[in-house]
Amino acid sequence: MYTRILKPFEDKNAISEAAEILKNGGLAAIPTETVYGLAANALDAQAVSRIFEAKGRPSDNPLIVHISDFNDIYEIAETGGDKRVKMLAEAFWPGALTMVLPKKDIIPGIVSGNLPTVGVRMPSHNIAREIIRACALPLAAPSANISGFPSPVAFEHVFDDMNGRVEAIVDGGDCEIGLESTVLSLCSETAVILRPGGVTLDMISRIIGKTEVHASALQPIETHTEAASPGMKYKHYSPKAKITVVKATLPQFIEYVKANMCDSAAVLCFEGEQEKMPCAAISFGSEKDYSEQARRLFSALRELDLLEARRVYARCPSSEGIGLAVCNRLFRAAGFDVINS
Ligand code: TXA
Ligand code: MG
Repeated sequence: MYTRILKPFEDKNAISEAAEILKNGGLAAIPTETVYGLAANALDAQAVSRIFEAKGRPSDNPLIVHISDFNDIYEIAETGGDKRVKMLAEAFWPGALTMVLPKKDIIPGIVSGNLPTVGVRMPSHNIAREIIRACALPLAAPSANISGFPSPVAFEHVFDDMNGRVEAIVDGGDCEIGLESTVLSLCSETAVILRPGGVTLDMISRIIGKTEVHASALQPIETHTEAASPGMKYKHYSPKAKITVVKATLPQFIEYVKANMCDSAAVLCFEGEQEKMPCAAISFGSEKDYSEQARRLFSALRELDLLEARRVYARCPSSEGIGLAVCNRLFRAAGFDVINS
């Protein structure tokens, strides 16, 4: 398939061209403030089925539906007068929060992996919102990577994964946050963070009170327990290398790497530490700047692939604030191989 590259910063027709493709049942990768999304008309089961094909995504992993105006939520989800919905939207929409609510029948089962719920998000990225508005449709969009690969946070990442598989890729430059939205279930009295992301636990509990983080955020889910969020049971965000996250001070970490050195080993470390490492090293930001780590982690994982690293030792980030999301993505990229040195 020929993939058109649309450039809204240079071409004023790019938005309407992307909207036209989506209205006609096509797929367009679009920029958002979190990561690039692979969008299709959420009301068209056939179009949505092509997302699963293009990504190689398991069909039981539900998609997030993107809207451009708050009131659109009432078309697709059953809010049942839940006051938290409006409070959260006022605080964090448009932005990196996905709310999971009972779904309305207008959303085909394929979108929600046949769950009775739907995840809804209003992105803050202007291009994303303009495209949604121009096609006047809710858009189902998972991250625009091949399933299991790190989410794309730059146009080049999307191009590498999706060129030839989709009708269009919209170039919006780099994503500001760099990791995905927080997925928050409002299906019970106590809200549960199913996937930590751009909006932190603290930020949410300040608005709606007691909120829990699902145990799967920092540990593998037991295979016999049913996943609250099906995405949590799949290995994710992996570069080709096997990663081990090493909890240690910097000197202990360097000792550990030296003792476990092998061919094509590399290190994922904090900014300024590269020169101290006994092998190739990629930084994902300074040790104390959790937002920078969020922004750089997925690019760093892709860079490790370009280095052809096969064995990676990673410094362990803090799990404070957005750091929880950084840890979640890195631990999962490592298949939860996290050790104390
Ligand atoms: O920031 C984001 O959320 C990006 C951009 C494109 O919006 N999207 C994204 O989608 O990360 P995806 O499909 O890669 O991840 C969605 C996650 C999956 O783990 C999925 O299982 C979970 O959200 N999810 C979606 N709908 C759900 C539902 N109804 N119930 C529970 N989990 C749900
Ligand atoms: Mg994804």
